[in-house]
Amino acid sequence: MLTFGLVGAGGFGREVMPFARDSLQRSTGAAGGQLDVVFVDDRLAGQVVNGLRVLSVADFETTGERRLFNIAVADAATRRTLAARLRLCAEPVSLIAPNVVIGDGNSIAPGAILCPFTNVTSNARIGEFFHCNIYSYVAHDCVIGDYVTFAPAVRCNGAVTVGDDAYIGTSAVLRQGTPERPMHVGARAVVGMGAVVTRSVADGVTVVGNPARAME
Ligand SMILES: CC(C)(COP(=O)(O)OP(=O)(O)OC[C@H]1O[C@@H](n2cnc3c(N)ncnc32)[C@H](O)[C@@H]1OP(=O)(O)O)[C@@H](O)C(=O)NCCC(=O)NCCS
Repeated sequence: MLTFGLVGAGGFGREVMPFARDSLQRSTGAAGGQLDVVFVDDRLAGQVVNGLRVLSVADFETTGERRLFNIAVADAATRRTLAARLRLCAEPVSLIAPNVVIGDGNSIAPGAILCPFTNVTSNARIGEFFHCNIYSYVAHDCVIGDYVTFAPAVRCNGAVTVGDDAYIGTSAVLRQGTPERPMHVGARAVVGMGAVVTRSVADGVTVVGNPARAME
């Protein structure tokens, strides 16, 4: 039996699960009866959430014969730690909603979650365990690091580079760069909801506002 575990039964996990099942059936070819789908969440282990069993991480590690996983936890550091542990017993799988549009020449590393109404236009490179929440897009020639999180409706225009573990808040707009001079959001940087980012952001800095400035 193939078991898929979605780590995190919180708000985001419950939003992702409905299209996760569909995505897995498309990517693995497994029919409903051959695929056991569970949430994995130590805080809710033993409960049933939206009709699905919740296992602890330890129980998931030994369930079934073959395991796939993804992680619906926004915090990048937590996502990293969980991915390192679960990779020892399971395979990361991307979850892609049916109406996502992915254009030509993109590469998307395993573990991505591409929510409904998202779009990766063309020639983007995206690192592992990327979260692209509803209505966000990644435009041409962007380079997105590992464990990057886009909240809903992020507009990431062409030739933007985003460092590992960066968090981009709801409805933020990232100005386009050029291939010679990309607009860069640094590793672990945070872009606040509604920010309009017109200049590169240094590693670890939080910016808000229009035009975006570092938070005091
Ligand atoms: C930028 C952010 C990370 C700051 O969080 P924080 O450090 O907890 O900041 P606080 O809430 O303490 O706010 C500090 C000040 O910044 C202001 N502020 C917070 N976020 C802001 C934003 N996005 N734009 C403009 N001002 C903002 C607050 O009003 C407050 O101002 P004050 O001191 O004059 O009262 C956060 O507000 C944010 O935008 N997070 C993204 C939320 C999101 O997109 N969630 C998606 C869920 S799926």
